Amino acid sequence: MNVDELDAGDVVVRIAYASINYKDALTARGKAKIAMKFPLVVGIDLAGVVEESSDARFSKGDEVIVHSFGLGAEHDGGYAEVGRFPADWVIPLPKGLSLFEASALGVAGNTAAWAIDLMELNGLAPQKGKVLVNGATGGVASIAIDILAQRGYHVVAMSGKASQADYLKSLGAKDVIGRADVPERQRPLEDPQWAGAMDSVGGAQLGWLIRRMRRDGVIAAFGNASGAAFDGNVLPFILRGVRLLGVNVNNPYETMARLWQRLATDLRPKHLDHIARRIRFDQLEGAFDDLLAAKVTGRQVVDFSL
Ligand SMILES: NC(=O)c1ccc[n+]([C@@H]2O[C@H](COP(=O)([O-])OP(=O)(O)OC[C@H]3O[C@@H](n4cnc5c(N)ncnc54)[C@H](OP(=O)(O)O)[C@@H]3O)[C@@H](O)[C@H]2O)c1
Repeated sequence: MNVDELDAGDVVVRIAYASINYKDALTARGKAKIAMKFPLVVGIDLAGVVEESSDARFSKGDEVIVHSFGLGAEHDGGYAEVGRFPADWVIPLPKGLSLFEASALGVAGNTAAWAIDLMELNGLAPQKGKVLVNGATGGVASIAIDILAQRGYHVVAMSGKASQADYLKSLGAKDVIGRADVPERQRPLEDPQWAGAMDSVGGAQLGWLIRRMRRDGVIAAFGNASGAAFDGNVLPFILRGVRLLGVNVNNPYETMARLWQRLATDLRPKHLDHIARRIRFDQLEGAFDDLLAAKVTGRQVVDFSL
């Protein structure tokens, strides 16, 4: 495609990096109805340098991030050397982050930051108790573990990948547990264990988590990697005051920009170089399949200079 064939916008960006998110793999493999047009450049986030802008807020050479607003679904996304976007979607790269770090964070980082922001607004604090992170080796979860550990939380990582315990501990998890088998016969309340929980997995696992939260425990539910439907009952909510928070990263621009500022400062992960690895554009196909098969640890970023 040439630039004129890309979707309309005020800002043309030379894309340096674009990350691979679960949603990208679903789109590319036709596993969910995400693509709203065809052909579509997939890729729900990107970081790069402005090449041309008809909007006064941006000039040639500015380093920027773009994600959400239907990117990679309704509007051509990040898996291309050049993209064109409405200026209202373009976020200036915050001071303190490199373009690679911004892409390593990408939608996953913004989701982790939003979930933690919401959980703390709803009463979560390190002294309240342990925080469980489910689907722990995933992109959002890896970043969340790093951020939570730095904020002083006792993080328990729950993963289907027994072999990755050292990786999870290197990010700051204090304990690593295998994915729990959810029993067929369920009690309405189980032994209370966690003050907080972040869930990428959904399905029966989420139902199980809700029943194990402590008094006033806070859950951020943001994913459905293993399914959507779960069984539940009201007792955790009315007897323990459990708070189930829905997390959707597609926030208004001001919220996204505020979260990017936090990711560059007080929510800045320490281990992005360890969490994210660079791949070539021609490795995308394999990367999608690996992600859907839960074989990937951390984040994968397409580096257009490779
Ligand atoms: N709500 C939002 O706005 C928002 C934003 C971003 C992402 N998400 C969602 O959050 C979830 C995580 O996204 P991500 O980009 O971090 O994905 P990811 O890197 O693929 O991580 C997903 C992790 O979930 C675990 N998992 C458990 N059961 C699985 C299964 N049956 N298939 C695949 N993985 C399974 C795996 O971790 P272990 O092997 O360690 O258990 C896997 O690494 C996805 O559902 C995604 O769509 C939502």
